[in-house]
Amino acid sequence: MPMILYSFFDAYDFSGKTIIPFNTHGGSGFSGTISTIAELEPDADVREDGFTVSRNNVQDAEPDILAWLADLGYINPSSGASVPAEKEAENTDGKSLVVYYSASGNTEEVAAYIAGAMNADLFELEPVEIYSSADLDWTDRDSRVSREHDNVEERAVPLVADTVENWESYDTVFIGYPIWWGIAAWPVGGFIAANDFTGKTVIPFCTSSSSGLGESGELLEEAAGTGEWLEGIRFRSGASEDTVVEWVNGLGL
Ligand SMILES: Cc1cc2nc3c(=O)[nH]c(=O)nc-3n(C[C@H](O)[C@H](O)[C@H](O)COP(=O)(O)O)c2cc1C
Repeated sequence: MPMILYSFFDAYDFSGKTIIPFNTHGGSGFSGTISTIAELEPDADVREDGFTVSRNNVQDAEPDILAWLADLGYINPSSGASVPAEKEAENTDGKSLVVYYSASGNTEEVAAYIAGAMNADLFELEPVEIYSSADLDWTDRDSRVSREHDNVEERAVPLVADTVENWESYDTVFIGYPIWWGIAAWPVGGFIAANDFTGKTVIPFCTSSSSGLGESGELLEEAAGTGEWLEGIRFRSGASEDTVVEWVNGLGL
């Protein structure tokens, strides 16, 4: 891996971020570079399914790159090779945004499926202080999440960013979260409080082990105070892409 990448990983904190490697090579593929990145950034989610192409095949790689992006859930597989240009054009005159918080990846997967089906932008909500697995242990009365659950005032978790660039350009906003004790995981609360939803259609979605959407959407709508909120949906943890895309297509947006 080029030295400059070591400096880059040294200079930035990738905690909680997803790193998707891609490279061109002269015959050795990724070699050991993905595991090197994982070692350099132990708190990041370093994807194993990166894209590697021989330098001799770069010219013809576009279809493979698009197929790879579709597999990752970042573009709609049926949209073909013109997707990136279209996506860029749409982003300037507004469309859909998928905002989500995900502590352990389930809601993130659903968010990516929705973004793929809607050709939407994705925005991940990241608490400044990321929840470790110990923090998330709701069976431990002393864990962080249990303490926050028991003390409502501790649920206002600061976010790395609570506003999105070009917010005014979006007319549909999906908001995703895991269910925690029957309601929306509270890190989404900071985003709701920080934004004006006037004129936007807002669609809550969540993942859970067994609980339904319950009142989670209504409580967020109440907190927002603006926007036209649709009923929303709950997916089970690990819902399939087909299930999610079928729901999105049925919304008629
Ligand atoms: C603190 C905490 C509380 C939870 N409470 C519930 C609950 O009340 N009902 C339920 O069905 N699942 C509950 N779960 C399970 C999560 O909702 C479920 O695993 C979800 O898919 C996690 O999404 P994520 O991977 O995007 O964080 C809880 C999980 C955590 C960590």
